[in-house]
Amino acid sequence: MGDLGEGLSHYQKQGFCSFHTPGHKGRQEFFNGSDFLGFDLTELPGLDMLHSPSGIIAKALKKAAEIFGAEETFFLINGGTVGNQAMLLALEDTADKRVVVERSCHRSVMSGLVLSGLKPDYVMPIVHPDFNLPLGFNLEKQEILWQEVSACHVTYPSYYGTAFDLSELLSERTCLGFNTPVLVDQAHGSHYLSPLFPPSALKLGADLVLNSCHKTLSALTQSAMLHVQGARVSRTRLRQSLELLQSSSPSYLLLASLERAGEFALDLWRWDCLKEAVEDLHRKVDMCFRILSPKDVGAYGIHAVDWSKILINTYPLGVPAPLCVEYLREGFGIEPELWDEENILFMLGIGNTPEDVRWLTKGLESLIHFAPSMSFIKSKNRQEMARGLIPPLPYPHLSPREAFLAHKRQIPLKESLGHIVGETISPYPPGIPVVVMGEKMTHEVLSMLLAAVEERWQGWDSFESQTIWIVEED
Ligand SMILES: Cc1ncc(COP(=O)(O)O)c(C=O)c1O
Repeated sequence: MGDLGEGLSHYQKQGFCSFHTPGHKGRQEFFNGSDFLGFDLTELPGLDMLHSPSGIIAKALKKAAEIFGAEETFFLINGGTVGNQAMLLALEDTADKRVVVERSCHRSVMSGLVLSGLKPDYVMPIVHPDFNLPLGFNLEKQEILWQEVSACHVTYPSYYGTAFDLSELLSERTCLGFNTPVLVDQAHGSHYLSPLFPPSALKLGADLVLNSCHKTLSALTQSAMLHVQGARVSRTRLRQSLELLQSSSPSYLLLASLERAGEFALDLWRWDCLKEAVEDLHRKVDMCFRILSPKDVGAYGIHAVDWSKILINTYPLGVPAPLCVEYLREGFGIEPELWDEENILFMLGIGNTPEDVRWLTKGLESLIHFAPSMSFIKSKNRQEMARGLIPPLPYPHLSPREAFLAHKRQIPLKESLGHIVGETISPYPPGIPVVVMGEKMTHEVLSMLLAAVEERWQGWDSFESQTIWIVEED
């Protein structure tokens, strides 16, 4: 085996308890009957074609549309990423128009702007003061210029499981009499199929809805779905966009896993059992951390909270989040989805069991017990510690596409203040850009990048040499 295979094998042998994607959590039960090698096939007689389905794929798509409540569903084999790109590329009537985009969206939306040439009209998030994270936005304070935009693209829920009031946005569009499409990145909410969770964007009336089914459902990594209803977005253009962006040799393993994920998504009892265990976790450790919970609804633009994302702020405990993560990984084999300087996100998927959540509860209780011997942040200035915070957002000087196509050169990062940045840089996960290509480098972004110590950045060509691409200005 080569290095990659050895690395995977070594990781797997450690047997971590997964609180990260994929949602199947390595449980065989979701794949019983699947023959991994035998099913790795291509468009052979009787196996249909993803880009022009009329046989078994068409039937699976129809069934998925019924399960998720769409008029039509497309299977995606390049993740939610290609869904965001295709949604923007499919828009018509875009000349001289912009598209409403949340500035705290995933970087794949920015790549959709590069591909489509659309200019963003940013909706700014509210940074929650307890978590230093963009968890919602206030619709009343954001004017959406419906007549001037080709579409409104929103993220529902956020990576951290908070949802803004999407129904208010949709009813504003209807009340004002506009026909502007509302495109929803529901990558983290594929499991919103019951009253246990916030309502799905399809149910609320969105036009296009993206589900990254590998994140919380049982589909294999990289498989996702794009759902459509109504006629505000041309289905032909959507099909053409997907055909343009997706592989001509789609993996049948991914496609078959999407079909199965839809079937398992209806096993609501799995989520029911997890909910009880999560409530118990809150009861046992709430007092020592700041944990996001349904009590947070109604403040800082949060309209609903998905309990299956356990977001824990470790500041009240007095221990930096990375140290807590180290303790939980080494002592309990617990692997979270992501963390920054003071928050840890534990993400549940349909493959988690109540035992997993009870194990996490035990790990957190033990952490609380040992915290006094570990703690060293109480005396420190919090601002100094919290490098995961979102800097004030820079002003865009060029659209992402203009910046992508422009002449660029690399300069030392420390000399980049005031220059137009030529890269879209984000910590990964969550993939929310700190700076988008076309924006001017500000003091805040620069000091955040200069303080970056770990190599968990995406889109930054030369983290090691501390240089950055900037756009040449005449
Ligand atoms: C909000 C959001 N949208 C889209 C994506 C892209 O999805 P995928 O990883 O399936 O390509 C992500 C990935 O993390 C995401 O967080």
